[in-house]
Amino acid sequence: MYILGIETSCDETSAAIVKDGQKVLSCAISSSLDFHRRYGGIVPEIAYRMQLETITYVLDAALKEAKIKLKNISAVSVTDKPGLLGSLLVGVCLAKAVSFSLRIPLLSVDHLHSHIYAAFFNNKTIKFPAVALVVSGGHTSLFYVQSFDQIKLIGQTQDDACGEAFDKVAKILGLGYPGGPYLEQIAQGANAKKFKFACSNTKAPLDFSFSGIKTALFYQIKYQKPKNKKETADIAASFQETVIETLINKSFLAVKLKKTHSLILGGGVIANCRLRDKFTAAAKENGVKLYFPQKDLCMDNAAMVAGLGYQLLKLGYRSGLDLAAGSN
Ligand code: KG4
Ligand code: ZN
Repeated sequence: MYILGIETSCDETSAAIVKDGQKVLSCAISSSLDFHRRYGGIVPEIAYRMQLETITYVLDAALKEAKIKLKNISAVSVTDKPGLLGSLLVGVCLAKAVSFSLRIPLLSVDHLHSHIYAAFFNNKTIKFPAVALVVSGGHTSLFYVQSFDQIKLIGQTQDDACGEAFDKVAKILGLGYPGGPYLEQIAQGANAKKFKFACSNTKAPLDFSFSGIKTALFYQIKYQKPKNKKETADIAASFQETVIETLINKSFLAVKLKKTHSLILGGGVIANCRLRDKFTAAAKENGVKLYFPQKDLCMDNAAMVAGLGYQLLKLGYRSGLDLAAGSN
């Protein structure tokens, strides 16, 4: 069964064809990131205008690469929340048009839940229940996952998202945007113990807070300018290490509290190699099975939307043409 996935929650415009929830036949992605760079963040108006212009080309590219005709699609799955409203609307409208014109089922998926699904493409035997950590530019959330349609939020950031903190710290350090990959690059091989940073405590143990560490780093730089590139790299590495350790501590605490043995990771920040290595070591130490997506499926993409849509279709879910973007 071929499912068409559509993802337009932020700056990406993506369409994918996935067979039986497992085989990614194509995943076309167009990003408006270059147009946002000069503003140092995503400008919603630019994002959705670009999405309107590109979405049909992206759909064509996905069909062509998969060597599939639109009429052979069995269902269409689309991200309906959370995200930028104008952007979500572009994807939802196209999905409705495809569903209506072909008389095929329409599925709506939550963006964060689809980030969790990304790990299922390269790990076919993930056992439920599991704890899932989703770390992206807009969210840092812990979930208790009992099945593809029973996903409960058990912790989340109280202020900045983890990726957002990476981006803001990279900006303070004078690196490029989005900052995560740049920060990881300069932190490589640097001394992560040189500077002492800490993530603020939260009232609920499974919640997160990243704005304090970002502010601490801002004042560190303001009052004690790094003397050279090596010192900047040490600051970046010390920040990165502290954030990763916090993510590890909270995730494994959730695994313990929920008495599971599986931990799934998803979201853009999971592309970070240091994070992947440190989680892998911690999982080994704690006897926990760890699953994360291949690097290119950590970032926003429509394959994960098609994959989760397939599972929801099998469970009997359908969305109507009255589907609204951005609602809960
Ligand atoms: O999931 P995603 O593609 O989009 C959202 O749903 O937000 O995540 C984008 C975020 C950005 O904040 C970016 O800086 C971060 O993921 N990111 C990274 C790395 N690659 C991307 N953060 C740390 N290290 C990386 N290698
Ligand atoms: Zn995302």
